[in-house]
Amino acid sequence: MGVNIRGRSFLKLLDFTTDEIKYLLALSADFKAMKRSGVPHRYLEGKNIVLLFEKTSTRTRCAFETAGYDLGMGVTFLDQNSSQMGKKESLRDTANVLGRMYDGIEYRGYEQKVVEDLAKYSGVPVWNGLTDDFHPTQMLADILTVQEEFGQIRGRKLTFFGDARNNVANSLMVVCAKLGMHYCACGPKEQMPKPELVEECRRIAQETGAVIELTDDVRKGAGNASVLYTDIWVSMGEDPSLWEERIRLLKPYQINAEVMAMAAPDAVFLHCLPSFHDRNTTVGEDIYQRFGLACMEVTDDVFYGPRSRVFDEAENRQHTIKAVMYATLK
Ligand code: CP
Ligand code: NVA
Repeated sequence: MGVNIRGRSFLKLLDFTTDEIKYLLALSADFKAMKRSGVPHRYLEGKNIVLLFEKTSTRTRCAFETAGYDLGMGVTFLDQNSSQMGKKESLRDTANVLGRMYDGIEYRGYEQKVVEDLAKYSGVPVWNGLTDDFHPTQMLADILTVQEEFGQIRGRKLTFFGDARNNVANSLMVVCAKLGMHYCACGPKEQMPKPELVEECRRIAQETGAVIELTDDVRKGAGNASVLYTDIWVSMGEDPSLWEERIRLLKPYQINAEVMAMAAPDAVFLHCLPSFHDRNTTVGEDIYQRFGLACMEVTDDVFYGPRSRVFDEAENRQHTIKAVMYATLK
């Protein structure tokens, strides 16, 4: 039987079967080929979507906007200062109103419950553009990039270094579990994923043949890995006072040339971005001034090195988000 996710929301990957995720990845590759060869695909002409951003964004916002335009849709962008949501109007009422005017809603913000409630009350597909817990659209772009590199992904080891309990790391563990990959969270005990999520992923892994591993040993984490992945050490919405402690805890888990050399010879480097790999940002410079660290989760040489695929990964955000919107709205 074919896969059909029309009318569904895309809130977290735990809600989707392995076949549904594979279907979205195949659709993403099709959209990428169309985009590359200039084949128009205005399949959703006449529909309108709204993008709600309570946290800042470059990739996710631009991917939703450009994908929406490519599909022929009208797109409205609202940030935290340009709507009544939360301040003068409850989430429930906002969802009701937006559901009357728009065919789909993207939401980036804090609690996962907000995006779940938006879906509950709006009556239209809602797409999670990042919450404190999960970043599911990022996963499709990441896995598409891994597939482009290696073809077959089953059994491949992907290791996440650093803050292994953040939204990106949580989502990587889920997607690897669903797709039968070997996921390794490599970081200090303090930053390991919540036990309930690990248990849930290990349950899924029993059905898919995936492996879920947790380690604080960098050599063990990198050994035999095909993908080395990292993310910033303090996520959006977390207290900036955490930097000092996170630097202390996570510095040993920085991805540098030495760590790359411990991985499989053909291993690639991925990062959801944005990344602190130099002093060319205000935060990067501030950290350098305060702690003397010129790069954080990844060194500049790895970030721009021959094994880095971070800009392919970023481009794939557009193709994969397009697939999610098309599959749920068509
Ligand atoms: N990876 C990602 O979500 O990037 P933005 O924060 O720029 O959207
Ligand atoms: N963990 C990061 C991801 C950014 C795309 C954050 O939430 O800030």
